[in-house]
Amino acid sequence: MAADAPQAFPAAADQAEDVIPQKAWLLSRQGKLPRHLAIIMDGNGRWAQRRDLPRSEGHRAGAASVRALTRMSRRLGIETLTLYAFSEQNWSRPAAEVQALLTLLVEFLSSELQELHSSQIRLVAVGNLQRLPLPVRMALQRVVDATRDYRAMTLALCLSYGGREDLVQAARALATQVAAGKLRADAIDEAALSQALWTAPLRQPPDLVIRTSGEQRLSNFLLWDAAYAEFIFAQRDWPDFREAELADCLEEFANRDRRFGAVSAP
Ligand code: FPP
Repeated sequence: MAADAPQAFPAAADQAEDVIPQKAWLLSRQGKLPRHLAIIMDGNGRWAQRRDLPRSEGHRAGAASVRALTRMSRRLGIETLTLYAFSEQNWSRPAAEVQALLTLLVEFLSSELQELHSSQIRLVAVGNLQRLPLPVRMALQRVVDATRDYRAMTLALCLSYGGREDLVQAARALATQVAAGKLRADAIDEAALSQALWTAPLRQPPDLVIRTSGEQRLSNFLLWDAAYAEFIFAQRDWPDFREAELADCLEEFANRDRRFGAVSAP
C-alpha cells in the first residue's frame, strides 16, 4: 500500500478504543461507501438554545463534530468530505455570530494542521473567498498551501459559498474567455462549466449529501454538483451528529439503488 493511501481498516490495537461502528468498517471493506460525502451542518443554533447557551456555543460544539467526522471519514477511506461551513447568506447574521464563526474557523485551522499533516489530508477552500477578512484568508491559505500535495483525503470547506453565486461566476468567467476569443461558445459543455466552478478542485461530484437537524432543503449548496447525489435528512442537530449517526447514514446510502437515470440491473 502506498504511504499516503487511505488506511481503510483499523490496526488491531486501534480497534479496542474504536468509536467507529463496526458496520461502517464493513461497508468500507465492501466498497459501499460514498467516495465523496458532503454535509450541510445544520442545527447548531437550536442545539445551543435548547441548553440556554449562546448560539456561538452551538457552533463550538459543531466544530467538535467536524473534527470527529473528518477523522472517521479519513479512516474509512472516504476520498472527499465537503462541509458547508459558511454560506454567502450567512453574512447577514448578527456581526457577533459571524465573528464567532470566523474565529472558530481560524482556531480549527491552527489546531488541526498537525492532524492534517499526519493523516495526509489536503484542505481545500471553496467559495467567494475574497469576502473573508484578510487574516482569515491568510490562515486558510497557509493550511491550503501546506497540505496541497496530500492525496489520502480532501477536506473541502465551503466558505462564503453559494451554489447560485458559483454558477454566476462560472458563467462570467466563460463569457470573458469567449469575448477574448480564447473559447468558442459551442465548446462550452458540462466539463467546461464544471472546470469553471469554485468546486472544480473537488474533482468529483458528491455521491451523498447529508443535512442534519431535520430540515429538508438544499439551501444553495452544490446546486450543479449534486445533480445525481443521494440525499439523507438526519434528525440530530450537527453538534450531536457523531460517528454512530454518520454510520447510520452510510448504511442507508449503501442500501440505495442509484440508477443515474437508467434502469436497475436485472
Ligand atoms: C448551521 O447551524 C451552521 C452554520 C451556519 C455554521 C457551521 C459551522 C460549524 C459547524 C463550526 C465551525 C466550522 C468549522 C469548519 C471549524 P445554524 O446556526 O443555522 O443552526 P440553527 O438552524 O439551529 O439556527
